Amino acid sequence: MRFDILTLFPEMFPGYMSQSILNKSIERGLVEIHVHNMRDWAEGRHHKIDDTPFGGGPGMILMVEPVVNCVRDVQAMASQPGTVIVTTPQGQRLNQPMVEELAVNQRMILLCGRYEGFDQRVIDVLRPLEVSIGDYILNGGEVASMVLVDSLVRMVPGVLGDEQSSWDDSFSRGNRLLEYPQYTRPRDFEGHQVPEILLSGNHGEIERWRKAKSLENTRDKRSDLLDE
Ligand code: ADE
Repeated sequence: MRFDILTLFPEMFPGYMSQSILNKSIERGLVEIHVHNMRDWAEGRHHKIDDTPFGGGPGMILMVEPVVNCVRDVQAMASQPGTVIVTTPQGQRLNQPMVEELAVNQRMILLCGRYEGFDQRVIDVLRPLEVSIGDYILNGGEVASMVLVDSLVRMVPGVLGDEQSSWDDSFSRGNRLLEYPQYTRPRDFEGHQVPEILLSGNHGEIERWRKAKSLENTRDKRSDLLDE
């Protein structure tokens, strides 16, 4: 899976890309991430990429020309065309089924917005998929792009070990339950004990207990998942 990330803040990405699962996937050739500075496509000595809005109003707008040129040039950097995605609070809200749908794309070009947004013609000309990671406003689309990448690379075969990927499967395919509580040593922490059943060695009973706890957790914390 290849990502081309178009941003005005490329320095935000190396730290994130060096985290373990992603770094290993990149080293193993399962994932490619190319970060491009949109400002490199802005003309003039000052590489101006934003301007004040026609009609007045606060903030600055990212200009159509450098952004569209950047997307077109980046598209041409690989033979396979990429699905263009803009991270924006106006987009379709991301959830696990949507992650699974997006994961069929072998290449995605992620456009990170900043300031008050893009000139509307960026959207009209490129017709990107608009994706929001939730109903709140971030300072820009960079963190949202990282969220997208993070959720998508988990879908690439070989990125996760078998155990983890089968857990993901069971969460997303219809079985929308939260996880059961987990414990490790010590058995007693300041009087808080590990539930006896988990020490019993009775796998059938443990399985039943975990299912019940999953359901209880979901009912207490996210009953909306059960309503769905
Ligand atoms: N940019 C700013 N806020 C955002 C959000 N909630 N989702 C995606 N991109 C954003």
